[in-house]
Amino acid sequence: MAHQATLTIDGKVLELPVLEGTEGELAIDIAQLRAKTGLITYDPGYGNTGACRSAITFIDGEKGILRYRGIPIEEFDRPHPDFLEVAALIIFGELPDKAFLKRFSAISTANANLDESMKHHFEGFPENAPPMAQLSAMLNAISCFHPEFFTLTNGVSFEQAAGRVISQIRTVAAYSYRRSKGLPFIYPNPALRYCANFLHMMFSMPYQDYLVEPEIEDALNLIFILHADHEQNCSTSTVRMVGSSQANLFASCASGVCALWGPLHGGANLAVIEMLESIQRGNQKPEDCIALAKDKSSGFRLMGFGHRIYKNYDPRAKILKKCCDRVLKKLGIQDPLLDIARRLEELALKDPYFIEKKLYPNVDFYSGIIMRAIGIPTSMFPVMFSIGRLPGWIAQWKEQQDDPAKRIARPRQIYVGAPLRHYVPLEKRK
Ligand code: COA
Repeated sequence: MAHQATLTIDGKVLELPVLEGTEGELAIDIAQLRAKTGLITYDPGYGNTGACRSAITFIDGEKGILRYRGIPIEEFDRPHPDFLEVAALIIFGELPDKAFLKRFSAISTANANLDESMKHHFEGFPENAPPMAQLSAMLNAISCFHPEFFTLTNGVSFEQAAGRVISQIRTVAAYSYRRSKGLPFIYPNPALRYCANFLHMMFSMPYQDYLVEPEIEDALNLIFILHADHEQNCSTSTVRMVGSSQANLFASCASGVCALWGPLHGGANLAVIEMLESIQRGNQKPEDCIALAKDKSSGFRLMGFGHRIYKNYDPRAKILKKCCDRVLKKLGIQDPLLDIARRLEELALKDPYFIEKKLYPNVDFYSGIIMRAIGIPTSMFPVMFSIGRLPGWIAQWKEQQDDPAKRIARPRQIYVGAPLRHYVPLEKRK
């Protein structure tokens, strides 16, 4: 059915086209609004603004649905495909055949090592520099070593650039951790798969290889898959915003890391652990936390709960909850934080405040507990999120570059500052 919207402004009637997505979602096309009426729209936080058409990820937040290129994320759980396979699906649009996956994996393996002189960059950071600061700086720095990727003119060079950045983000991440611990860098091992290689670079010593437990590799692979894209979230929109000026892929992805650093986005899983630890230290009971979260004047929020899009259980959290149980059981870990998390979840799910506001556990609620069990330090949590989200950033960047309707992103504003006034020379100012 063709839809049409009518807008009346001061008696003037304007017909606005309505766009329809493949899943029936509707959007009023206001591209001509300012030209025809002189008005703009006002939408702080962009909660009602569609900034692009995208064929990558579909989310229905009311129903708790998340699909990559049409495939529900539940289909990536048990048995999990390799993260690189899901990355290829997200970036190139189709499940890769064997030959393509082999080629893409080979690009990743061949480019895992950083240029030797890049390693010295890490020494310029203080030892306690946050890994996210190092990650964004170093992702941007990769482009300096590969100016051939500044302009990605054809599919082959894009494939090479995408494979390189997916591979090297993991090396940079591991090296930023090693630097923070004063440990020697461990070279990537081409015999290992994506996640096993990352764990090797994180935890091996020059004199002793880290033994990669299949369950741990599997859990990490699943965490990366479940973070791989989430349509137009804050970091992805940042990548698109920067990419819209035709900044290169590496610079655009580095900006995504900066956006992800904030506690309301990629820093939330860290905040969950801090909250659970503070409860465990006995400062608060789960019941007190719930009461505090409901009290607006406290400024406290239940970390790992609520989502801008999901007004139902976050489907990623459902999968990770099961994974969390498996990993802790396998490792024989009795984590009191998990008991507290379960209690909080139980209390919140039956509390009218959380029910009315449709606040459910989000992906960060369980990912932090799993990563803690694997031995990933909390300062690295947003880094792990960045590794997982990179395929999405790359795919969205590419989709934007290829979009015939692309324009530099340039929102407008409602000016609320001083009306016209005049410059007063310093000596005449009172
Ligand atoms: N604890 C308590 N109350 C919460 C809450 C939480 N975690 N999240 C949202 N709310 C309340 C808000 O106070 C607000 O109440 P009001 O309508 O009475 O003013 C209402 O729910 C809507 O919240 P709002 O902040 O407008 O939603 P948003 O879409 O802008 O924010 C988040 C979404 C994720 C930023 C927010 O839910 C949050 O801060 N969650 C905790 C951090 C987190 O887990 N982030 C990870 C996201 S993956």
